[in-house]
Amino acid sequence: MHLVLSDEMDAPHLRAEVERAVPGARVENSGPGLLAVHGLSTESTLRTPLVFARQLLLDATFESATSIRAWAELLFNRVSAVVTGTGPWRLHVTPRYGQGSAGANRCGLIRQTLLEELGRRRRSLKRSLHAEPSLFRPDESFVQLLLTSPETGFLSILTAPRPYELRHRIAGDPMGEIPLASDKSAPSRAFAKLVEAERRLGVPITADDFCVDLGASPGSWSYVALQRGARVTAVDRSPLRDDLMVNPRLTFVRGDAFRFEPDRRADWLLCDVIAAPERNMGLVLEWLRRGLCRRFVVSIKFKGADDYRKLDQLKEELPGLTESFLLTRLCANRNEACAAGTARAP
Ligand SMILES: C[S@@+](CC[C@H](N)C(=O)[O-])C[C@H]1O[C@@H](n2cnc3c(N)ncnc32)[C@H](O)[C@@H]1O
Repeated sequence: MHLVLSDEMDAPHLRAEVERAVPGARVENSGPGLLAVHGLSTESTLRTPLVFARQLLLDATFESATSIRAWAELLFNRVSAVVTGTGPWRLHVTPRYGQGSAGANRCGLIRQTLLEELGRRRRSLKRSLHAEPSLFRPDESFVQLLLTSPETGFLSILTAPRPYELRHRIAGDPMGEIPLASDKSAPSRAFAKLVEAERRLGVPITADDFCVDLGASPGSWSYVALQRGARVTAVDRSPLRDDLMVNPRLTFVRGDAFRFEPDRRADWLLCDVIAAPERNMGLVLEWLRRGLCRRFVVSIKFKGADDYRKLDQLKEELPGLTESFLLTRLCANRNEACAAGTARAP
């Protein structure tokens, strides 16, 4: 059985998405924003991006324990049986019950009690616990305990290299929640989308990069790229904020994003144009087919839930055009999804 977590609001969309992707799967609601999927092989879970999934617990088992100490003991036994201590591993103990921060304190205490136990009985495992919420490394294992009540929960243990192989499908941050980046100097809150996409990709824009930013005004995405030291060609019908317009590393092109042709391959295609989903999807597919970009972050904006199934075209075509990609609703997205990834070498 696999568990798939979504935002509570997105739960019906996730369910529709899973049922469409894997017609034979049996899908059950196991809590708020929590679906249990039976009969979906791990292989097909690997292949199918689920836009509305915030986190996956693959091969999850149902568990129960009556106290914090009993949970820690259960974790100790399971983890020390399969995680070797030679490579790093990551542990998420998170609650999914009640309101607000219910269970967070209990989860913190379970984690702390486990660490004390490891310190006494398995020091190497304690030392190799990896705290950074970054992308999974090839030698890293991943343990998730999700409490659905104080005394029940689900446990998933993936040993290396599976978390790495699944790095664009499972999240390195607990429950896939990434706090929204904030910067009062950025021209708009759209800034947080690009910062989150970089983090989920595990690849930041760098000073050596040339970025094309389509639908760039008022300029938050260009602002992020310029802050990283990159050069930017920004395309919009309206200008960007004044200070960005005079930045020597920015070239502004007034015009239609869908007609813009770069004079050389861009390191990053950034596209946040407000347009129908099929237009932005068509644009990124075209840029990838023609080898016009090395990496991409593209927003797909929706008018209603009817649009969501249009994303199936990207699920079908991106695997053949990219080395790796993610297709997800970012925490910073509103009624949008984000397609991001690395193109196949031309
Ligand atoms: C959501 S805003 C982009 C915000 C921007 N990413 C930022 O971070 O500041 C969408 C932009 O798309 C632009 N836009 C819409 N259609 C366009 C088109 N066909 N060509 C160029 N720009 C377009 C709008 O002018 C608007 O500035």
